Amino acid sequence: MGTVIAVASGKGGTGKSSFCSNIAVALCAAGEKVLLIDTDAGLRSLDLILGMSNKVLFSYADVIEGKCSLKEAAITHDVVKNLYMLTAPATPRVFTKEQCKALVERAKAHFTYTIIDCPAGISDNVMDFCGAADRAIVVSTPDHTSLRCGQKAGILMEQEGQKFVKIAVNRVRSNLIDRGEAVNIDAAMDQAGLGLIGIIPEDKGVIACGNGGKLLAFERKSPAWQAYSNIAARIRGEKVRLLDGVGGRF
Ligand SMILES: Nc1ncnc2c1ncn2[C@@H]1O[C@H](COP(=O)(O)OP(=O)(O)OP(=O)(O)O)[C@@H](O)[C@H]1O
Ligand SMILES: [Mg+2]
Repeated sequence: MGTVIAVASGKGGTGKSSFCSNIAVALCAAGEKVLLIDTDAGLRSLDLILGMSNKVLFSYADVIEGKCSLKEAAITHDVVKNLYMLTAPATPRVFTKEQCKALVERAKAHFTYTIIDCPAGISDNVMDFCGAADRAIVVSTPDHTSLRCGQKAGILMEQEGQKFVKIAVNRVRSNLIDRGEAVNIDAAMDQAGLGLIGIIPEDKGVIACGNGGKLLAFERKSPAWQAYSNIAARIRGEKVRLLDGVGGRF
């Protein structure tokens, strides 16, 4: 049985979908078989970020409703071996906790890692997926507003029975932290009340690749790709140091 990781945030636009895409690619590069599930019903984005839109036929809603099998709905990436994606339905949909859990269990049986990209917010379905997953990651920028939402999301996940919640601090700009104009990583962890899985620097390559449906992994000098790779390694149980020079004491 594989491991399922739900990625959520509270506040919108913190970088969850970029995080999920790149962590999935990094896990595949390490030899894992990975399913990405976009659960942002009505506002899906993983297919665009990964350049897979032309392949989409079925959504996770079709799988839950028995209109097709998981195998039929999970589309493959043209370049990244063993990367599969289950897209969100084009219109908003809400499912029961049991239906969300059943989808997660099916994925777990076929993939070594399943990454669930949650919509922004703390809706019931977000918490259903976070509760059903083996672990959860809150992606937050180092801003007080985002961190407070992340803290709230973490508390609700714990109430759903999720015991393994960590934070990834995204879009970190060390120059702002050095000048005291952005929250440093220690303070970010304190404010969110969550242990750290990693930090991702601000990197325009994330924006350019996401807009072009291109792989950040090919941008060998990308600091964000280095950070995503390190986080994927930590997820696989490897001990990897935090990036030097990003965010105060790190
Ligand atoms: N480390 C980064 N450096 C620079 N830009 C980033 C970084 N991470 C994400 N972005 C950019 O931030 C924007 C929002 O990212 P993304 O769509 O991944 O966020 P999200 O949390 O999934 O949003 P939503 O809440 O709408 O689902 C995108 O333009 C993306 O390219
Ligand atoms: Mg998103």
